Amino acid sequence: MAGKILIIGACGQIGTELTLKLRDLYGNDKVVASDIREGSEELMESGPFEIADATDADLIESLINKHGVSEVYLMAAMLSATAEKAPMKAWNLNMDSLFHILNFAKDKKIEKVFWPSSIAVFGPTTPKNDTPQTTIMEPSTVYGISKQTGERWCEYFHDKYGVDVRSLRYPGIISYKTLPGGGTTDYAIEIFHEALKKKSYTSFLDENTGLPMMYMDDAIKATVDIMEAPSEKVKVRSSYNLSALSFTPKDLAEAIEKEIPEFKIAYEPDFRQKIADSWPSSIDDSEARKDWQWEHDFDLQSLVKEMLNGVSEQLKTAK
Ligand code: SER
Repeated sequence: MAGKILIIGACGQIGTELTLKLRDLYGNDKVVASDIREGSEELMESGPFEIADATDADLIESLINKHGVSEVYLMAAMLSATAEKAPMKAWNLNMDSLFHILNFAKDKKIEKVFWPSSIAVFGPTTPKNDTPQTTIMEPSTVYGISKQTGERWCEYFHDKYGVDVRSLRYPGIISYKTLPGGGTTDYAIEIFHEALKKKSYTSFLDENTGLPMMYMDDAIKATVDIMEAPSEKVKVRSSYNLSALSFTPKDLAEAIEKEIPEFKIAYEPDFRQKIADSWPSSIDDSEARKDWQWEHDFDLQSLVKEMLNGVSEQLKTAK
């Protein structure tokens, strides 16, 4: 890598763990974290940090110049449930931030870009099971529309201007270090906190709502792998389908019950049910597996064990 890495949105759920991993791999000083707010102690203390609004092109450009940045990971976005409550704000954040970075890459100010897409690019008319890489995409949420549009622009900037942009359609990502903000898949994280604190949880999704999910370590591994892959192996320049697991709230509750036998779950679906119903239940990610040898490590029970251990450690130190 010629210069440093800049992570925009470094204090979010994925940004936090991605920053720590990249600092581990490439050296603390090589990875500049930035966000609109400060993050965890570990993130703030392990390397350079800048306060930055992802939509402020001048500021982002000044950070690229100041630190000699050659790669940007643009992790800032408003997620599905929050975006439904502030559609225009979500659209502006999700799109403006991407355009700035794609244009910096087009103008050769940076060499490589990572930008996450999501299962939210799919919609109610998409085949629900083993959703293929190329299929009907009529997203019905603002978040999904912004991600689908972003994918089209990534491919356009790659084909037209040779921009080296790489992207993954993340499923719901399960982790404990930093909480997600306003996603439809967040129930699968809240459930662990409540299981440990109260031995019960009321899910905002119905018991049989199957969604594609993944443990954070696998999501980070996929991100590092696609960024490290030789350019010619990255054949899809919109965004790759990416998959590990698929489970329903009921499946997850049963897996938790194996570790905490008293655990009880109830179901009170809210507006997020409709969002979840519009998304696939499972994803065919064979192109990622074939093109750059993607493989996941965590199955449902190993994810449950990691989450219960991680969250209970956190609860202990919070006391
Ligand atoms: N986890 C995300 C959400 O629920 C999906 O990309 O919005």
